[in-house]
Parts: sequence; C-alpha cells; structure tokens
Amino acid sequence: QPDELQSHFDETIARERRIEPRDWMPEAYRKTMIRQIAQHAHSEIIGMQPEGNWITRAPSLRRKAVLLAKVQDEAGHGMYLYSAAETLGADRADLTDRLVHGRQKYSSIFNYPTLSYADVGVIGWLVDGAAICNQVPLCRSSYGPYGRAMVRICKEESFHQRQGYELLMTMMRGTDSQRDMVQQAVDRFWWPALMMFGPPDDESPNTEQSMAWGVKRHTNDELRQRFVDMSVPQAEKLGVTFPDPDLRWNAERGHYDFGTPDWDEFWAVVKGNGPCNAQRVAHRKSAHDEGAWVREAALAHAAKSAGRR
Ligand code: 3HC
Repeated sequence: QPDELQSHFDETIARERRIEPRDWMPEAYRKTMIRQIAQHAHSEIIGMQPEGNWITRAPSLRRKAVLLAKVQDEAGHGMYLYSAAETLGADRADLTDRLVHGRQKYSSIFNYPTLSYADVGVIGWLVDGAAICNQVPLCRSSYGPYGRAMVRICKEESFHQRQGYELLMTMMRGTDSQRDMVQQAVDRFWWPALMMFGPPDDESPNTEQSMAWGVKRHTNDELRQRFVDMSVPQAEKLGVTFPDPDLRWNAERGHYDFGTPDWDEFWAVVKGNGPCNAQRVAHRKSAHDEGAWVREAALAHAAKSAGRR
C-alpha cells in the first residue's frame, strides 16, 4: 500500500539506514538524487579541463606524472557517479546531453582559468580540500550507491589535496617570483573555492529537504565554515594570506569570522556567465562528438560477440 511504502521509506531515513536501488522511494527523492549525483559527475568531468591544461606544461616528469594520475582519477570519479545515477534510472547519454545543452549544472569553480602552474597546486590544496569537506559527510548520504562511491572518491581526493599542498610548499621554498605566483593563485581561487559550497543556507532551495532526507548531512554554510577553519592554519604554515580583510579568529564562536562572498558573481557563474563557461562546455561537447565512433564501435563489437555467443 502506498502509505505503507512511504512510512517504510520514512522509517529507513529516520533510522539513518540506506535506501538501495530496488527500494521504493518517493519520486521527488529519486529526482533530487539524480540531480545531485549527475551534477557531481559533471563537475568531475569538467574539472579535468583546468588541470589538464598543465599536463604538457608541467615543470618535471614527476609533476607531470602526478598531475596525469590526478586528472585520470577525476575521470574515474565521474564514471562512478554516472553509474550511481544510472541505478536511479538515469540515462548517461541523456545526462551528457543535459550538460552540453546547459540544462544541468557543474561546479562553478571550474569556470575559472588556470593562468599559472601555481594554480595546479592551489586547485589541489583548496578546490580538492573543499571537495573533501563536502564529500566526507556524503559518505553517509542516505542513497547507498552514492555514499559508497564517496568512500573511494574521498580516499583519492586526499592524495589530490596532499600533492597540491606539497607542490605549493616546494614553490614557497623557491624564488620570490615563485612565491608571488603562489600568492596570486591563492588570491584568484580563494573566494571561488568558498562558493563551491553553494549559496547561503537562506538562499538554498534544496538544503532543507536534502537534510530531511539525509542526502546532505550538513548545510552549505556549516561546510563552508569548516573549510575556512581548516584552511587558515594551512595558509599560515605555507606562508600565504587569503584575500579577505574580515578573516579573523573569533574566540567566542571558536571559528574564524570571514567576509561575504560575491553572490552576484556566484549566480552569474552558475547561470553560465563565468570566465570560462562557454569554453568548458564547448570542449566537453567536442570531446563527446569526437568520441562517437568509439561508442559505436564498442556497441557493434558487443553486439557481434553477443551474436557469436
Ligand atoms: N556550482 C554550480 N551550481 C551550484 C553550486 C556551485 N558551486 N552550488 C549550488 N549550485 C546550484 C545547485 O545545484 C542548485 O541548482 P539545481 O537545483 O538546479 O541543482 C542551486 O545552485 C541552489 O543550490 P542548493 O544549495 O539549493 O543546491 P544543493 O542542495 O544541491 O547544494 C551542493 C549544492 C552543495 C553543490 C550539493 O549539490 C552537493 O553537495 N553536491 C555534491 C558535491 C559536488 O557536486 N561537488 C562538486 C565539487 S567539484 C568536485 O567534487 C571535483 C573535485 O575532484 C575537485
């Protein structure tokens, strides 16, 4: 009976248990899970572009190998997440179509250009650091396949963050111009990294429901605060500053106070008007079009071998 199904679902969520693909779920739950998982997957795939730009320009074989490994990891994260979306009945080709036609989103952070090699380190340190803050709680997301995908992804993200921080530490021990390059990269990426966590809670249409369903375990502002608290000591150790005059320790709160991100910039970037949106989506579309023959060949091969069997 419908109300028995609904109460069983509610009971499962209330007990912090997992919803699995074959379980009954409200259509709105399925819809928001496909929305979040698909956009998370899109973010991983688009995120390959800013860093990929530096694979051929890395200053040493070691740095090239590490960056190659990281970019390949991001592709794998995208694959896990598209597969998780498919368990909800989403079609991967349709999701790609929505991405390239701007009907689904990907993380705003990847619409900023990587202008210097120090950006590779800052992306590892701050962007993957923000992703870790956001993704560790998602290991406990109520939808089984999504939470389990997060466990593997978080392990790889910590390698991503460490390699970025070590790269910056090395540059900070270098010349003045290398130190300047690092500080300029930090200045360009700090505020966009804070925007990765989403709009303020009182402007977040999905947070309340996502918290009630155990999709999210913390609100956007809670995770943003956690990220700031984690990053300030790391910046001090590195010897860089964040471009925020309001950033200071608040002993009463036991947290750092910080300034307000430019939410007009955030919404402009989310709506497609960031520095690199058109380039990122065009690149994704051409990669998909150029890969059509591979997909057709794989399908033809699969049909032939099925025919032989
Ligand atoms: N970039 C683009 N769109 C964003 C955004 C951002 N930084 N933050 C929020 N939005 C969108 C939301 O998707 C939503 O639009 P929609 O309803 O069409 O999906 C709208 O703005 C309002 O935001 P809400 O806070 O109401 O939406 P959510 O409850 O979904 O919260 C979120 C947004 C925190 C990003 C959440 O979706 C989430 O935790 N997603 C999973 C994590 C994720 O996607 N991370 C991507 C980071 S990059 C990455 O992981 C790669 C790593 O290897 C670097």
